[in-house]
Amino acid sequence: MKVITFLNEKGGVGKTTMAATVAAGLAIIGYRVLMIDADPQGHLTISFGIKKQHSLYNLLVRDEEFSKPGIVQPISPEVYALPNAKSPAQGRLFIVPGNRETRLIAQALEGELFAVRNKMEELERANVVDVVIFDTSPTPSGLHAQIFLATQHIIYPTELSYLSFDGLVESIKSTTGYSQQKKAGGLEEIKLSGIIPTKFRSKVLEHQEKYQSLLNTRGYGHLVWNPMPLSVIWEEAMSRQRSIFNYAYDHPTAGDAWKIVRLTKERILDVTQ
Ligand SMILES: Nc1ncnc2c1ncn2[C@@H]1O[C@H](COP(=O)(O)OP(=O)(O)O)[C@@H](O)[C@H]1O
Ligand SMILES: [Mg+2]
Repeated sequence: MKVITFLNEKGGVGKTTMAATVAAGLAIIGYRVLMIDADPQGHLTISFGIKKQHSLYNLLVRDEEFSKPGIVQPISPEVYALPNAKSPAQGRLFIVPGNRETRLIAQALEGELFAVRNKMEELERANVVDVVIFDTSPTPSGLHAQIFLATQHIIYPTELSYLSFDGLVESIKSTTGYSQQKKAGGLEEIKLSGIIPTKFRSKVLEHQEKYQSLLNTRGYGHLVWNPMPLSVIWEEAMSRQRSIFNYAYDHPTAGDAWKIVRLTKERILDVTQ
């Protein structure tokens, strides 16, 4: 089981959109995917038409079982798989929904640093899920620390803007710190596995320059994945509570999204360690 976290200490850069897209794509091609909505805004939850609720709070703070009704909700292939059974989903997609009570988790769990990690180990032993995808809030919190302890891979969506790069740098700094602590404690490190430039406008000089500078950044250039073009299709799919593959499978942007799904498979899921 692999645990992947979408992170950037800036809002509106496409974390939730990319988390939902990668999760749906992996479920279509055969993985059993569990999304965990760790942002109190609950946007990942509602982007699949699920009602915001305090499932994550109950799972972690009340220590409820994954199998308890209401903790894990299945997502219907009708909203995420390719339409008209062009290629029926081979895997499964689930979510642990969240709501504003997610904000209270960090305080309630103070001192119990391993609550998220323990839950992930429980899930791994049950062998019911291949990939866990965490969507996170932009504001750093104690819950992030908990998630880092359970995460092996981080994917950073970033806009090609000055402020978004700043968020990226801050996020890299904090995860590097946690990764070193984990290593020192005998746990696996956290790998920065991909940086996804989002809302990319290929004809805008500023975007071309920022994209090049990201590619040329020492130590990180090789981690930059293909950019996600700016397109209203994302907003349209989200407001209809569907994955981009379901809503617009033949749109060029869906083709770009498949590249991200493929890279996640090749760089993270196919790597044995
Ligand atoms: N490549 C893109 N092009 C255009 N709009 C996008 C793109 N990616 C995301 N969006 C839109 O931008 C808004 C913020 O995205 P979201 O994924 O919620 O960001 P975050 O989770 O980082 O706050 C949403 O309305 C989403 O539909
Ligand atoms: Mg979000």
